[in-house]
Amino acid sequence: MKRILAPSLLAADFGNLADEVKTVAAAGAEYIHIDVMDGMFVPSISLGIPVIQSIRPCTDKVFDVHMMVEEPGRYARAMKEAGADILCVHQEACRHLDRTIGQIRELEMRVGIALNPATPLSVLDCVLEQADMILLMSVNPGFGGQKLIPYILEKISRLRKRLNQLGLETDIEVDGGVTLENVGQLLGAGANVIVAGSAVYRGDTSANVRAFINTFEELSE
Ligand code: DX5
Ligand code: ZN
Repeated sequence: MKRILAPSLLAADFGNLADEVKTVAAAGAEYIHIDVMDGMFVPSISLGIPVIQSIRPCTDKVFDVHMMVEEPGRYARAMKEAGADILCVHQEACRHLDRTIGQIRELEMRVGIALNPATPLSVLDCVLEQADMILLMSVNPGFGGQKLIPYILEKISRLRKRLNQLGLETDIEVDGGVTLENVGQLLGAGANVIVAGSAVYRGDTSANVRAFINTFEELSE
């Protein structure tokens, strides 16, 4: 499956956001991962609709919007209008997940379903075939710069195995604590969309993006 880097803007300089987006896009990242936090589902408040709208003209790369928001369906239309391409909602935040998925689809965005680290894969049983992407959190959501929880590796493998059994080529995105050191294990387990915040926006951002992409290529040879 195609391997994609999705730099998380949460670790970028918000005072310089347009350039931070352009830098990772120019260096070869295919997705821009945008973390929206509401202060309820997670303790932090990050950025929202007007900011997404303002950075939309910076690039035509895919806007991968990670909604850490209670009842995210309330904002699906506004997110589409702001420029979201993928809307990723947490199973834990949707009282009526099936309905929310339907809303996203109707608005012609790609559907992502996110699970917190401790949420079992079984909650996906009825909706797996409706998702374009499953986002497995590898840290407890809310903050950048945390350490990856090791049991996520086995969870990724089990999900990839299940998808293969069903003949589905659904993307598995992994988010939280990803580094150049552990990305090989995550890809090996079956993840193919890699979110990285602090590992990209620390030091030389362009070089970091290129290092991730080179690692993807080396490991697929
Ligand atoms: C955490 C966010 C992540 C975060 C990842 O709640 O969903 O996308 O920005 O940051 P790092 O890569 O620093 O763990
Ligand atoms: Zn995220």
